[in-house]
Amino acid sequence: MPAERIYLDSAASTPVADEVIQEMLPYLKQQYGNPSSIHYFGRETARAMQLARMRVAGLIGARPSEITFTSGGTEADNLAVKGVAEYAKTLPKMHVITSYVEHDAIIEPVRDLERLGFRVTFLPVTAEGMVRPPDLKEALAADTALVSVMHANNEVGTVQPIKELAKIAHDAGALFHTDAVQAAGKMPVSVADLGVDLLSMSSHKINGPKGVGALYIRSGLDIMPLIYGGGQESALRSGTENVHGIVGFGKACELAGKRLPEYRLKVAELRDYLIDKVLKEIQHSRLNGSRLDRLPGNAHFTFFGVNGEDLIIKMDENGIAASTGSACSVKKQKPSHVLKAMGFSYEEITGSLRMSLSLQNTKEEVDRTVQVLSEVVAELRSLSPFKSKYV
Ligand SMILES: Cc1ncc(COP(=O)(O)O)c(C=O)c1O
Repeated sequence: MPAERIYLDSAASTPVADEVIQEMLPYLKQQYGNPSSIHYFGRETARAMQLARMRVAGLIGARPSEITFTSGGTEADNLAVKGVAEYAKTLPKMHVITSYVEHDAIIEPVRDLERLGFRVTFLPVTAEGMVRPPDLKEALAADTALVSVMHANNEVGTVQPIKELAKIAHDAGALFHTDAVQAAGKMPVSVADLGVDLLSMSSHKINGPKGVGALYIRSGLDIMPLIYGGGQESALRSGTENVHGIVGFGKACELAGKRLPEYRLKVAELRDYLIDKVLKEIQHSRLNGSRLDRLPGNAHFTFFGVNGEDLIIKMDENGIAASTGSACSVKKQKPSHVLKAMGFSYEEITGSLRMSLSLQNTKEEVDRTVQVLSEVVAELRSLSPFKSKYV
């Protein structure tokens, strides 16, 4: 077992902050009331949820009434896509636009709409993973109900021109949703500034508990629920609320908002240090995604002549946690649809590795990581049938 483990997978999940745990504990112990009950216990949990709603709204400049709590980013994405589509069917507007680099939490519900008779357009991206605004303009039609483009990509960290895309969608009479699961709390996100109608968030990416998230729905916008029942969350998401999770998510949003200036500065500095060091010290390596329009914590590389899965296993043996990309799809062992959409060859995809940083990481950790990485890459290349190309 390595002496001390290094965690470079913050885009997959993060530890729950102590302050968040402290705030959650009473709602697991003394304050166990159902927020729908009218007695003291119910009122206390309803009050706690209202505070959480204010804090979540605060992080993205929304009104508390515009926040619907969900079981996470995946459900928020599904609610946005399906909720708008169900409503749009009555208009009828049966066209939905998204991009090829979305998380599966968008791709799969959109594919389901296709099965249900909707017309779907997937927008291509540049080699850096960026959606081109003219492509959206061209794809829009009179029956386009919804455009969904993610704020920042979970694999390569590329940040999309959301404000511009939202305006183009609105000019054509379509609604605009953005999956801000990777962006919210890590870069300034303001729904008013972006001009979006719907926005997804997730708690566990910003030191909150897992299994809780939210969908921002602009006030006045009608969408249909996915889950029917007791009518909680203004009838948009029935079911007794995950009170302790929601309380924790609220606190995590408050903390993320406060630390944002420090996060942006320090994490981006460490990321750039890591990127420069890798490119300098490891031959035949390449940074993927946009260098400028990039999440502060994301570093994504291709190491030519090695297999990313082998790299992760070797890094793990050395106590370093990294990833090939989306934690949700790695187990499926399928090549990344994001890198494919960016036009990568099979070799470029196979040799890819994502390291995602947080304020917890240090320069010493990055130094050790690059040292291990360069040894492991050299070892794997020496075993490769193509070694003459890269050793
Ligand atoms: C961009 C993006 N969208 C959605 C999700 C799903 O969020 P959750 O894990 O809260 O369901 C993730 C999680 O990795 C993500 O990165």
